[in-house]
Amino acid sequence: TLAVLMPQDLVGETVLVTAGPTREEIDPVRFVSNYSSGKMGYALARAARLRGARVLLVSGPSALTAPWGVERICVVSAEEMRNAVLDRWGEVSIAIKAAAVADYRPARRSERKVKKADRESLSLELEKNPDILAELGLRKGDRFLVGFAAETCDLLENARKKMRAKNLDLMVANDVTQERAGFDVDTNIVRLLQPDGTEEALPEMTKDEVARHILDRIQSLRKGT
Ligand code: CTP
Ligand code: CA
Repeated sequence: TLAVLMPQDLVGETVLVTAGPTREEIDPVRFVSNYSSGKMGYALARAARLRGARVLLVSGPSALTAPWGVERICVVSAEEMRNAVLDRWGEVSIAIKAAAVADYRPARRSERKVKKADRESLSLELEKNPDILAELGLRKGDRFLVGFAAETCDLLENARKKMRAKNLDLMVANDVTQERAGFDVDTNIVRLLQPDGTEEALPEMTKDEVARHILDRIQSLRKGT
């Protein structure tokens, strides 16, 4: 896509995007994670840059290359993602949390590889990670805050609940049971939910196109049009 053909409506804005999964280490060779590839977040980062924004991309482990002109900050765990985001929070005017943050991490990380000898079963104790988006909601100030909801049932009800609980300005609801939506595919099928109850169901489109729609909606809501 040629930047000259894009509206330059994000000049002067600093857009923070989080993307990808997080990894929570069990020991030096194992981790707990999820199927996120980072594609949706990277598409958002690229689209925001093409529209003139300064873009900070806080990314969990992903095979994707950083989009041109985007400042990528690589992290591994949810804790690291949280610290990276809060570190840069003062610079941010728009935040989009597309990352699939692991909700739990091993309560203890073993310094040595866990060995299987003498053990027929093993249980892993997990503890809750901080909810980064909820923390951002509490420190929102005059920023515009966008979240994602990955759901396998009761999509709208769950997504609306999260939007309220995390003090969001826009929620992107994602039914991840659909084959052409969600994890590791190039297409997505989402609904855009607003705090005033307005809802738009987007048809199946590429993640680049979804990114463009999300940025359009952010801009119209910020301008109050
Ligand atoms: N999120 C976050 N920090 C976490 C968990 C989630 O910032 N520890 C963010 C995600 O980046 C996403 C939003 O919160 O933008 C919703 O994530 P989701 O997993 O759908 O919801 P949860 O609130 O984690 O609830 P649950 O997984 O139980 O449905
Ligand atoms: Ca979650």
